[in-house]
Amino acid sequence: MPDAPLSREHCLALDARDPIRHLRDRFDLPAGVLYLDGNSLGALPKTVAPRLTAAIEQEWGRGLIRSWNDADWYRAPQRVGAKIAKLIGADFDEVIVTDSTSVDLFKVLAAALRMRPGCSKILGVEGDFPTDAYIANGVAAFSGARFVRVEPRDLIEAIDHDVAIVSLTHINYKSGFIHDMPAITKAAHAKGALIVWDLSHSAGIMPLALSDAEADFAVGCGYKYLNGGPGAPAYVFVAKRHQHEFDHPLTGWLGHKDPFAFAPEYIPAQGMDKLLTGTPPILSLLALDAALDAFDGVDMNAVRAKTQSLSQLFVGLVEARLLRHGFTLASPRDAHARGGQVSLTHRNGYAIMQALIARRVIGDYRAPDTVRFGFAPLYTRHVDVFDAAAVIDDVMTSRAWDTPEFAEKKSVT
Ligand SMILES: Cc1ncc(COP(=O)(O)O)c(C=O)c1O
Repeated sequence: MPDAPLSREHCLALDARDPIRHLRDRFDLPAGVLYLDGNSLGALPKTVAPRLTAAIEQEWGRGLIRSWNDADWYRAPQRVGAKIAKLIGADFDEVIVTDSTSVDLFKVLAAALRMRPGCSKILGVEGDFPTDAYIANGVAAFSGARFVRVEPRDLIEAIDHDVAIVSLTHINYKSGFIHDMPAITKAAHAKGALIVWDLSHSAGIMPLALSDAEADFAVGCGYKYLNGGPGAPAYVFVAKRHQHEFDHPLTGWLGHKDPFAFAPEYIPAQGMDKLLTGTPPILSLLALDAALDAFDGVDMNAVRAKTQSLSQLFVGLVEARLLRHGFTLASPRDAHARGGQVSLTHRNGYAIMQALIARRVIGDYRAPDTVRFGFAPLYTRHVDVFDAAAVIDDVMTSRAWDTPEFAEKKSVT
């Protein structure tokens, strides 16, 4: 993709002809803030507050427990799962919203391992989000299997007949690097392994085609590019061909065939319903439900094109103006190999990000030295990218980051 000329006027012109510029109006964004952290916590869609007000005041306040039936809270995990299915290239009855990504990963890894009884390895790559490795190690410890990690470039070679599951984050949380989903899925299947994709950093910024790729399982966060709000529940995908055999390890009452029979023995529900465990966080689930309306009528190819345009603009600005301050580009330079974020490393990364946040440019920091800038395509403009780069340049030139206040570590970085 050609690099754009780096003037503010050019950015305004790009925004004026952006085919999805109207989507920004679907969000309630704070004035004067350049929000570049939608890869961590998505912004607030305007549909969410009215939906939650109705859910609290009417459904909970007036309807009380009757709302499980009258407002159909009971089927919300399936209903919201069907909305997400459209964004990830799955059928409506292959996705359910429940628990967190970490917990859902535990469920699919444990069940997938049971589907490959002769194999002893879960294979992943170095540098994936820590929870994916922690959970894989946890599942391995329960089952006598081993979790093995290799460098991404050695992955395909490392898939042998002893691998039960290849478990990967589709887009790396730190660098934004995108794995080739169809090719890796095919390579796993060729050796008899199953594949689990963590889509936390891909759903909502690009077209995804789980069914076309013949993926087996997937999980992902509801609070990043899907904008479901802090702690929004996660989603889990199980390909229809595996649903019958799927032996769910967390056999809670809501995954029972007939929860309200209160039977003494567990009999799993059919299809995705068995992946439920306990009572869902209904308010968070309804927030995610409303947030997903921001994707109504949206062409995901246009979303992907805008993501690439925004992030390539930032890469151009970094190379022209920011590398001289000691930053290194820690994301792929090629927009086709990169998701929605651009990461830079700098030895003073933490303090720099604190100084930027104080100047209302909000990204985040990942230890030991990475600052991340996410370009959520539904509400970020080219001019925001330009203005953010100017603030970064100024914070570095003036050494505004170099104060004890900005060195002080906060709990969440
Ligand atoms: C790739 C990936 N998976 C999982 C998680 C977190 O999952 P959970 O919602 O269980 O905290 C994150 C969080 O940033 C992530 O980046």
